[in-house]
Amino acid sequence: MEKNRFPILHDFIEKTKSPIERELLNVLPSSPQSPLAIGRAMRYSVMSGGKRLRPLLLVLAHRACGGKGNTVFRVACSIELVHTFSLIHDDLPSMDDDDMRRGKPTCHKAFGEGIAVLAGDALLALAFENLASISNSRAISSETAVRLIAELAGATGAHEMMGGQAADLLHEGKKVSLPRVRRIHEQKTGALIRASLRMGGILAGASERMLARLSGYGERIGLAFQITDDILNLQSTPEKLGKAVQNDLERKKPTYPSVIGIGRSCEAVRRLTDEAKKDAKHFGKFRGHFEEMAEFVASRGN
Ligand code: IPE
Ligand code: IPE
Ligand code: MG
Ligand code: MG
Repeated sequence: MEKNRFPILHDFIEKTKSPIERELLNVLPSSPQSPLAIGRAMRYSVMSGGKRLRPLLLVLAHRACGGKGNTVFRVACSIELVHTFSLIHDDLPSMDDDDMRRGKPTCHKAFGEGIAVLAGDALLALAFENLASISNSRAISSETAVRLIAELAGATGAHEMMGGQAADLLHEGKKVSLPRVRRIHEQKTGALIRASLRMGGILAGASERMLARLSGYGERIGLAFQITDDILNLQSTPEKLGKAVQNDLERKKPTYPSVIGIGRSCEAVRRLTDEAKKDAKHFGKFRGHFEEMAEFVASRGN
Protein backbone atom coordinates (compact mmCIF):
# COMPACT_ATOMS: atom_id res chain seq x y z
CA MET A 1 0.00 0.00 0.00
CA GLU A 2 1.36 3.44 -0.95
CA LYS A 3 1.90 5.57 2.15
CA ASN A 4 1.33 8.84 0.29
CA ARG A 5 -2.03 7.69 -1.06
CA PHE A 6 -3.34 6.12 2.17
CA PRO A 7 -1.36 7.84 4.94
CA ILE A 8 -3.78 7.11 7.79
CA LEU A 9 -4.56 3.53 6.80
CA HIS A 10 -0.91 2.78 6.08
CA ASP A 11 0.09 3.66 9.65
CA PHE A 12 -2.87 1.75 11.09
CA ILE A 13 -1.94 -1.38 9.11
CA GLU A 14 1.74 -1.04 10.06
CA LYS A 15 0.91 -1.29 13.73
CA THR A 16 -2.03 -3.70 13.51
CA LYS A 17 -0.87 -6.37 11.08
CA SER A 18 1.98 -7.82 13.14
CA PRO A 19 -0.09 -8.51 16.29
CA ILE A 20 -2.65 -10.21 14.02
CA GLU A 21 0.07 -12.37 12.40
CA ARG A 22 1.48 -13.21 15.84
CA GLU A 23 -1.88 -14.30 17.23
CA LEU A 24 -2.57 -16.39 14.12
CA LEU A 25 0.67 -18.30 14.65
CA ASN A 26 -0.29 -18.73 18.28
CA VAL A 27 -3.73 -20.13 17.61
CA LEU A 28 -2.75 -22.54 14.81
CA PRO A 29 -1.64 -26.05 15.80
CA SER A 30 2.13 -25.93 16.24
CA SER A 31 4.37 -28.50 14.55
CA PRO A 32 5.27 -30.65 17.57
CA GLN A 33 1.63 -30.72 18.62
CA SER A 34 0.34 -31.48 15.15
CA PRO A 35 3.02 -33.04 12.99
CA LEU A 36 0.52 -34.51 10.58
CA ALA A 37 -0.13 -33.04 7.16
CA ILE A 38 -3.39 -31.47 8.32
CA GLY A 39 -1.58 -29.12 10.73
CA ARG A 40 1.02 -28.29 8.09
CA ALA A 41 -1.69 -27.62 5.53
CA MET A 42 -3.51 -25.30 7.95
CA ARG A 43 -0.34 -23.31 8.64
CA TYR A 44 0.61 -23.30 4.96
CA SER A 45 -2.64 -21.71 3.89
CA VAL A 46 -3.12 -19.28 6.76
CA MET A 47 0.47 -18.03 7.01
CA SER A 48 0.86 -17.31 3.32
CA GLY A 49 0.64 -13.57 3.11
CA GLY A 50 -3.02 -12.68 2.75
CA LYS A 51 -3.96 -9.01 2.99
CA ARG A 52 -5.67 -9.68 6.36
CA LEU A 53 -8.40 -7.26 5.34
CA ARG A 54 -11.11 -8.84 7.50
CA PRO A 55 -9.16 -8.92 10.80
CA LEU A 56 -7.96 -5.37 10.09
CA LEU A 57 -11.58 -4.27 9.67
CA LEU A 58 -12.49 -5.99 12.92
CA VAL A 59 -9.76 -4.15 14.83
CA LEU A 60 -10.64 -0.86 13.16
CA ALA A 61 -14.33 -1.15 14.10
CA HIS A 62 -13.36 -2.12 17.65
CA ARG A 63 -11.14 0.95 18.07
CA ALA A 64 -13.75 3.22 16.44
CA CYS A 65 -16.32 1.98 18.98
CA GLY A 66 -14.00 2.86 21.87
CA GLY A 67 -12.52 -0.62 22.37
CA LYS A 68 -9.10 -0.98 24.01
CA GLY A 69 -6.63 -3.74 24.80
CA ASN A 70 -5.12 -6.73 23.00
CA THR A 71 -7.91 -9.33 23.17
CA VAL A 72 -9.20 -7.92 19.89
CA PHE A 73 -6.25 -9.48 18.05
CA ARG A 74 -7.18 -12.92 19.31
CA VAL A 75 -10.79 -12.40 18.29
CA ALA A 76 -9.68 -11.12 14.87
CA CYS A 77 -7.91 -14.45 14.18
CA SER A 78 -11.26 -16.23 14.02
CA ILE A 79 -12.42 -14.21 11.03
CA GLU A 80 -9.19 -14.90 9.14
CA LEU A 81 -9.46 -18.62 9.93
CA VAL A 82 -12.97 -18.74 8.45
CA HIS A 83 -11.82 -16.70 5.45
CA THR A 84 -8.86 -19.03 4.79
CA PHE A 85 -11.11 -22.09 5.13
CA SER A 86 -13.38 -20.57 2.49
CA LEU A 87 -10.44 -19.99 0.13
CA ILE A 88 -9.13 -23.57 0.48
CA HIS A 89 -12.53 -25.01 -0.35
CA ASP A 90 -13.24 -22.41 -3.06
CA ASP A 91 -10.10 -23.55 -4.91
CA LEU A 92 -10.91 -27.29 -4.84
CA PRO A 93 -11.41 -29.11 -8.14
CA SER A 94 -15.09 -29.60 -7.24
CA MET A 95 -15.48 -25.82 -6.87
CA ASP A 96 -13.38 -23.28 -8.82
CA ASP A 97 -10.53 -25.71 -9.54
CA ASP A 98 -7.68 -23.26 -9.08
CA ASP A 99 -3.96 -24.06 -8.85
CA MET A 100 -2.63 -20.83 -7.39
CA ARG A 101 -3.60 -18.80 -4.32
CA ARG A 102 -1.70 -16.02 -2.56
CA GLY A 103 1.13 -16.55 -5.04
CA LYS A 104 1.63 -20.22 -4.11
CA PRO A 105 0.17 -23.59 -5.12
CA THR A 106 -3.31 -23.99 -3.66
CA CYS A 107 -3.70 -26.18 -0.58
CA HIS A 108 -4.93 -29.21 -2.55
CA LYS A 109 -2.05 -28.84 -5.03
CA ALA A 110 0.44 -28.86 -2.15
CA PHE A 111 -1.19 -31.47 0.12
CA GLY A 112 -3.75 -33.36 -1.97
CA GLU A 113 -7.49 -32.96 -2.06
CA GLY A 114 -8.43 -34.99 0.99
CA ILE A 115 -6.06 -33.12 3.30
CA ALA A 116 -7.18 -29.77 1.82
CA VAL A 117 -10.83 -30.57 2.58
CA LEU A 118 -9.90 -31.57 6.14
CA ALA A 119 -7.61 -28.59 6.71
CA GLY A 120 -10.47 -26.29 5.67
CA ASP A 121 -12.88 -28.09 7.98
CA ALA A 122 -10.38 -27.89 10.84
CA LEU A 123 -9.84 -24.13 10.32
CA LEU A 124 -13.59 -23.58 10.52
CA ALA A 125 -13.80 -25.55 13.77
CA LEU A 126 -10.74 -23.73 15.15
CA ALA A 127 -12.35 -20.35 14.49
CA PHE A 128 -15.15 -21.16 16.91
CA GLU A 129 -12.95 -23.02 19.39
CA ASN A 130 -10.78 -19.89 19.53
CA LEU A 131 -13.73 -17.64 20.42
CA ALA A 132 -14.90 -20.09 23.10
CA SER A 133 -11.41 -20.34 24.59
CA ILE A 134 -11.05 -16.54 24.79
CA SER A 135 -14.23 -16.58 26.84
CA ASN A 136 -12.98 -19.48 29.01
CA SER A 137 -9.85 -17.47 29.79
CA ARG A 138 -12.22 -14.70 31.00
CA ALA A 139 -10.80 -12.12 28.63
CA ILE A 140 -14.37 -11.58 27.41
CA SER A 141 -17.72 -12.38 29.00
CA SER A 142 -19.56 -15.51 27.91
CA GLU A 143 -22.42 -13.29 26.74
CA THR A 144 -20.09 -11.40 24.40
CA ALA A 145 -18.56 -14.68 23.21
CA VAL A 146 -21.98 -16.07 22.34
CA ARG A 147 -22.81 -12.92 20.38
CA LEU A 148 -19.51 -13.11 18.48
CA ILE A 149 -20.01 -16.81 17.74
CA ALA A 150 -23.56 -16.18 16.51
CA GLU A 151 -22.41 -13.31 14.30
CA LEU A 152 -19.61 -15.34 12.72
CA ALA A 153 -21.71 -18.50 12.30
CA GLY A 154 -24.56 -16.51 10.72
CA ALA A 155 -22.23 -14.90 8.18
CA THR A 156 -20.62 -18.23 7.30
CA GLY A 157 -23.56 -20.63 7.00
CA ALA A 158 -26.15 -21.52 4.40
CA HIS A 159 -27.93 -18.15 4.47
CA GLU A 160 -24.76 -16.19 3.75
CA MET A 161 -21.28 -17.30 2.65
CA MET A 162 -21.94 -20.97 1.99
CA GLY A 163 -25.31 -20.19 0.42
CA GLY A 164 -23.60 -17.65 -1.84
CA GLN A 165 -20.89 -20.14 -2.75
CA ALA A 166 -23.55 -22.71 -3.62
CA ALA A 167 -25.44 -20.16 -5.76
CA ASP A 168 -22.17 -19.17 -7.46
CA LEU A 169 -21.66 -22.80 -8.52
CA LEU A 170 -25.27 -23.41 -9.48
CA HIS A 171 -25.28 -20.33 -11.75
CA GLU A 172 -22.16 -21.24 -13.72
CA GLY A 173 -23.04 -21.09 -17.40
CA LYS A 174 -26.50 -19.62 -16.70
CA LYS A 175 -27.85 -16.25 -17.69
CA VAL A 176 -28.20 -14.21 -14.48
CA SER A 177 -29.91 -10.93 -13.65
CA LEU A 178 -28.20 -8.04 -11.89
CA PRO A 179 -30.21 -8.49 -8.64
CA ARG A 180 -29.25 -12.18 -8.63
CA VAL A 181 -25.51 -11.60 -9.07
CA ARG A 182 -25.67 -8.83 -6.51
CA ARG A 183 -27.22 -11.19 -3.97
CA ILE A 184 -24.61 -13.87 -4.70
CA HIS A 185 -21.82 -11.34 -4.10
CA GLU A 186 -23.41 -10.05 -0.90
CA GLN A 187 -23.67 -13.60 0.38
CA LYS A 188 -20.39 -15.16 -0.70
CA THR A 189 -18.16 -12.18 0.16
CA GLY A 190 -20.12 -9.27 1.64
CA ALA A 191 -21.48 -11.11 4.66
CA LEU A 192 -18.07 -11.97 6.15
CA ILE A 193 -16.80 -8.43 5.59
CA ARG A 194 -19.88 -7.01 7.31
CA ALA A 195 -19.46 -9.53 10.15
CA SER A 196 -15.81 -8.46 10.62
CA LEU A 197 -16.91 -4.90 11.33
CA ARG A 198 -19.84 -5.93 13.50
CA MET A 199 -17.70 -8.31 15.57
CA GLY A 200 -15.30 -5.44 16.32
CA GLY A 201 -18.31 -3.37 17.41
CA ILE A 202 -19.81 -6.18 19.51
CA LEU A 203 -16.48 -6.74 21.29
CA ALA A 204 -16.32 -3.03 22.14
CA GLY A 205 -19.90 -3.08 23.49
CA ALA A 206 -21.24 -0.82 20.71
CA SER A 207 -24.90 0.26 20.61
CA GLU A 208 -27.36 -1.23 18.10
CA ARG A 209 -27.28 2.11 16.30
CA MET A 210 -23.52 1.93 15.90
CA LEU A 211 -23.72 -1.72 14.79
CA ALA A 212 -26.25 -0.73 12.13
CA ARG A 213 -23.83 1.91 10.85
CA LEU A 214 -21.02 -0.62 10.72
CA SER A 215 -23.35 -2.98 8.82
CA GLY A 216 -24.22 -0.32 6.24
CA TYR A 217 -20.59 0.55 5.64
CA GLY A 218 -19.63 -3.15 5.53
CA GLU A 219 -22.33 -3.96 2.97
CA ARG A 220 -21.10 -1.24 0.63
CA ILE A 221 -17.40 -2.06 0.82
CA GLY A 222 -18.17 -5.80 0.79
CA LEU A 223 -20.03 -5.58 -2.50
CA ALA A 224 -17.42 -3.18 -3.94
CA PHE A 225 -14.73 -5.67 -2.89
CA GLN A 226 -16.26 -8.59 -4.82
CA ILE A 227 -17.06 -6.51 -7.93
CA THR A 228 -13.41 -5.38 -7.88
CA ASP A 229 -12.39 -9.05 -7.62
CA ASP A 230 -14.45 -9.73 -10.76
CA ILE A 231 -12.80 -6.81 -12.58
CA LEU A 232 -9.28 -7.85 -11.52
CA ASN A 233 -9.99 -11.37 -12.79
CA LEU A 234 -10.43 -9.83 -16.24
CA GLN A 235 -7.82 -7.10 -16.19
CA SER A 236 -4.94 -8.11 -13.92
CA THR A 237 -2.14 -10.65 -14.19
CA PRO A 238 -1.36 -13.77 -12.10
CA GLU A 239 1.92 -12.12 -10.99
CA LYS A 240 0.13 -9.11 -9.52
CA LEU A 241 -2.87 -11.01 -8.19
CA GLY A 242 -1.19 -14.16 -6.86
CA LYS A 243 -3.99 -16.24 -8.41
CA ALA A 244 -5.25 -17.15 -11.86
CA VAL A 245 -6.95 -14.60 -14.13
CA GLN A 246 -9.59 -14.95 -16.85
CA ASN A 247 -10.93 -18.15 -15.31
CA ASP A 248 -14.30 -16.57 -14.45
CA LEU A 249 -14.86 -16.35 -18.22
CA GLU A 250 -13.79 -19.96 -18.78
CA ARG A 251 -16.15 -21.22 -16.09
CA LYS A 252 -18.92 -18.79 -17.14
CA LYS A 253 -19.19 -17.49 -13.57
CA PRO A 254 -21.94 -15.13 -12.47
CA THR A 255 -19.96 -11.86 -12.26
CA TYR A 256 -20.77 -8.16 -12.57
CA PRO A 257 -18.79 -7.68 -15.80
CA SER A 258 -20.55 -10.68 -17.38
CA VAL A 259 -23.94 -9.14 -16.57
CA ILE A 260 -23.43 -5.38 -17.02
CA GLY A 261 -19.98 -5.04 -18.64
CA ILE A 262 -16.71 -3.62 -17.34
CA GLY A 263 -17.67 0.07 -17.61
CA ARG A 264 -20.84 -0.21 -15.57
CA SER A 265 -19.09 -2.54 -13.08
CA CYS A 266 -16.46 0.17 -12.46
CA GLU A 267 -19.25 2.72 -12.03
CA ALA A 268 -20.95 0.47 -9.48
CA VAL A 269 -17.69 0.23 -7.49
CA ARG A 270 -17.31 4.03 -7.63
CA ARG A 271 -20.87 4.62 -6.42
CA LEU A 272 -20.56 2.11 -3.55
CA THR A 273 -17.20 3.60 -2.54
CA ASP A 274 -18.57 7.15 -2.50
CA GLU A 275 -21.51 6.00 -0.38
CA ALA A 276 -19.20 4.16 2.02
CA LYS A 277 -17.06 7.30 2.34
CA LYS A 278 -20.18 9.20 3.32
CA ASP A 279 -20.91 6.56 5.99
CA ALA A 280 -17.43 7.22 7.36
CA LYS A 281 -18.63 10.43 9.02
CA HIS A 282 -20.31 8.29 11.70
CA PHE A 283 -16.99 7.02 12.97
CA GLY A 284 -15.71 10.14 14.73
CA LYS A 285 -11.97 10.49 14.88
CA PHE A 286 -11.65 7.28 12.83
CA ARG A 287 -13.43 8.86 9.87
CA GLY A 288 -10.19 9.08 7.86
CA HIS A 289 -9.44 5.40 8.44
CA PHE A 290 -12.85 4.37 7.13
CA GLU A 291 -12.63 6.73 4.14
CA GLU A 292 -9.22 5.46 3.13
CA MET A 293 -10.29 1.84 3.67
CA ALA A 294 -13.23 2.28 1.27
CA GLU A 295 -10.92 3.82 -1.33
CA PHE A 296 -8.32 1.09 -0.82
CA VAL A 297 -10.89 -1.69 -1.37
CA ALA A 298 -11.91 -0.10 -4.66
CA SER A 299 -8.42 0.56 -5.99
CA ARG A 300 -6.53 -2.47 -4.70
CA GLY A 301 -4.13 -4.18 -7.09
CA ASN A 302 -4.44 -7.64 -5.56
C1 IPE B 1 -10.25 -13.30 -1.88
O1 IPE B 1 -10.21 -12.51 -0.74
C2 IPE B 1 -11.55 -14.00 -1.97
C3 IPE B 1 -12.70 -13.14 -2.14
C4 IPE B 1 -13.65 -13.11 -1.26
C5 IPE B 1 -12.84 -12.33 -3.33
P1 IPE B 1 -8.96 -11.58 -0.44
O2 IPE B 1 -8.63 -10.77 -1.66
O3 IPE B 1 -9.20 -10.81 0.81
O4 IPE B 1 -7.79 -12.63 -0.23
P2 IPE B 1 -6.46 -12.61 0.64
O5 IPE B 1 -6.88 -12.98 2.02
O6 IPE B 1 -5.85 -11.24 0.58
O7 IPE B 1 -5.62 -13.66 0.00
C1 IPE C 1 -14.50 -16.30 -3.34
O1 IPE C 1 -15.03 -15.85 -4.50
C2 IPE C 1 -15.55 -16.21 -2.24
C3 IPE C 1 -15.21 -17.08 -1.11
C4 IPE C 1 -14.11 -17.76 -1.00
C5 IPE C 1 -16.19 -17.19 -0.05
P1 IPE C 1 -14.19 -16.06 -5.86
O2 IPE C 1 -14.12 -17.49 -6.23
O3 IPE C 1 -14.79 -15.12 -6.85
O4 IPE C 1 -12.76 -15.50 -5.42
P2 IPE C 1 -11.32 -15.86 -5.95
O5 IPE C 1 -11.17 -15.09 -7.23
O6 IPE C 1 -11.23 -17.34 -6.14
O7 IPE C 1 -10.39 -15.34 -4.91
MG1 MG D 1 -15.55 -19.04 -6.14
MG1 MG E 1 -12.50 -18.74 -6.69
